[in-house]
Amino acid sequence: MLIMKQSPIIVLGAALLASCAADNGPGIEYMPDMYRGPAVEAYVDYGQDPYYFGEDKAQEQRNTPSARTAPVGTIPWSADPAMAAYNFPYPYTNDTTGYGRAGRELFSPIPFTQENVDKGKIIYDKFCLHCHGAKGDGDGKVVEVGGHPPPTAYNGPLKNLPEGKMFHTITYGKGMMGSHAGQLDKEERWTVIQYVKYLQRGGKMTDAVEAPVDSTANK
Ligand code: HEC
Repeated sequence: MLIMKQSPIIVLGAALLASCAADNGPGIEYMPDMYRGPAVEAYVDYGQDPYYFGEDKAQEQRNTPSARTAPVGTIPWSADPAMAAYNFPYPYTNDTTGYGRAGRELFSPIPFTQENVDKGKIIYDKFCLHCHGAKGDGDGKVVEVGGHPPPTAYNGPLKNLPEGKMFHTITYGKGMMGSHAGQLDKEERWTVIQYVKYLQRGGKMTDAVEAPVDSTANK
């Protein structure tokens, strides 16, 4: 309790002076842990406490971010099983075998409901409409103005295209259509597919397309 007997002004003045450094440095750190937490920082490493390890070591560490690219094959964890399913790698290869298998084995985790169709339309209007056209007839502006070969109509030759093949094509691209995997995550791809299915049915919410057999085998 010695300190309490000093004049508060003297104590304060001493503290202020002690925290000044001649070279405009940060001054004395009373609790260095508060500046440089012992936990690993994801993006910025402040370096080990220079008071204990020396400025050289701290400087070297400050230039090395602690975040690292995840090892190949790492699967992000999610507590929600529905979301976790999206984190698994896409198992089908980018060739006709993979395309055929996706058509037979791959099904949407998202139900064909009006709500999902409406959500899919928002994505479709931004990413697909300019080529495929508002009704999916293959008459978007890119075709009309750019003179590019039209994609086939969803409600025509692609009427029976299974959703797994749609996912495969959106993921890898096909012919003149580039991959959209960089623009749309898996959930968004399945969501836009609900709208493509709606257009396949001629803009109706019927449960199934007229002939459920895949007439587009390995095309
Ligand atoms: C740059 C123009 C372009 C854009 C943008 C585009 N497509 Fe396509 N799409 C095409 C063309 C061209 C084809 C025909 C590919 C072929 O069969 O060679 C096609 C084919 C398809 C098919 C049929 C795939 C198959 O397996 O036969 C589907 C489904 C499809 N597109 C959906 C979409 C969706 C959904 C989007 C938006 C996320 C989209 N496309 C964006 C041009 C485009």
